[in-house]
Amino acid sequence: MDDRIISPGLRSDEVQLDRALRPQRLADLIGQGRVRANLSILIEAACQRGEALDHVLFYGPPGLGKTTLAHIIAHEMQVPLRATAGPAIERAGDLAAILSNLREKEVLFIDEIHRLGRAVEEILYPAMEDFTLDLVVGKGPSARSIRLKLPHFTIVGATTRLALLTAPLRARFGAVFRVDFYDRAALEAIVRRAARMLEVEIDEGGAAEIARRGRGTPRVALRLLKRVRDYAQVRSDGRVTREVAQEALTLLEVDELGLDELDRQVLHTIIEKFGGGPVGLETIAAAVSEESDTVMDVVEPYLLQVGFLERTPRGRVATARAYEHLGIPYDRAEQPTLF
Ligand SMILES: Nc1ncnc2c1ncn2[C@@H]1O[C@H](COP(=O)(O)OP(=O)(O)OP(=O)(O)O)[C@@H](O)[C@H]1O
Ligand SMILES: [Mg+2]
Repeated sequence: MDDRIISPGLRSDEVQLDRALRPQRLADLIGQGRVRANLSILIEAACQRGEALDHVLFYGPPGLGKTTLAHIIAHEMQVPLRATAGPAIERAGDLAAILSNLREKEVLFIDEIHRLGRAVEEILYPAMEDFTLDLVVGKGPSARSIRLKLPHFTIVGATTRLALLTAPLRARFGAVFRVDFYDRAALEAIVRRAARMLEVEIDEGGAAEIARRGRGTPRVALRLLKRVRDYAQVRSDGRVTREVAQEALTLLEVDELGLDELDRQVLHTIIEKFGGGPVGLETIAAAVSEESDTVMDVVEPYLLQVGFLERTPRGRVATARAYEHLGIPYDRAEQPTLF
């Protein structure tokens, strides 16, 4: 599944590129206007008061810039960023150690924060709220609890699954931002900026074509750019034009909307095996032999975004647009209404 060219998940061979292309300042961030505007006020206000930034939570599908935003916050606040992830903090003591080593105003970035264990989360509550750490020292009858004062730090959390975050944890974030898919123009600008940094010659048509197939997701668009660059170098004169981009992406089986084989398979399954739906996520996943998490995290958000899929209480339904895109006649009107 990670082999999918349009998979929004980060692949290990991309870590370097990811870092190199990451915008450093809020002003360099393309798109996400609402998040940018709100963050800049938050940051400026905190700086003026000379205080640590409030805890910030970013949520949204993979590859849209949550980690990038966390780094930008640290950069703008001129403090170091420490990065960890929910599954990496196994015991409460691990978190206690991290927290007690933070300095005033530092940013602790916790990726996949919905995957923190219960005991770990409970340490985090008072730490985020009152900057205190309650520790139990000793064992048995001589055990006693001590309260440590922590410096005022900032937690920046990121999650692809806001619904899995517990209510008390969510409530401790001063600001919660949804990071959304990018529109065509923003993605095009991201592609052009990356091409400049990678010294790839690209024209307007080439950038537009890559953006069109980039699923509204910077990570996907940047990956497509890399593959198109390879193609241009081998099959052409190295310049990325619309034609070259189209040829390269068709060869990679990424269609004009950025759908790949798995996306199409999911839609075909809903339409052909289940009469267009409604059908449950688990059933779809089983039919295409994928984990339901994969279907939910990396297939569904984009299909919903482009209006090919609808979520109903009874399951997923393919829309008329999906039929049209796949070239299947839409005759749902003749079927009995199920709602
Ligand atoms: N607004 C943007 N402008 C330019 N590049 C961006 C922007 N947002 C993201 N990118 C680029 O897209 C890639 C993915 O971004 P990032 O790693 O921040 O996503 P993410 O939301 O943290 O993904 P995940 O959920 O998988 O952790 C990075 O290479 C980053 O440089
Ligand atoms: Mg990330």
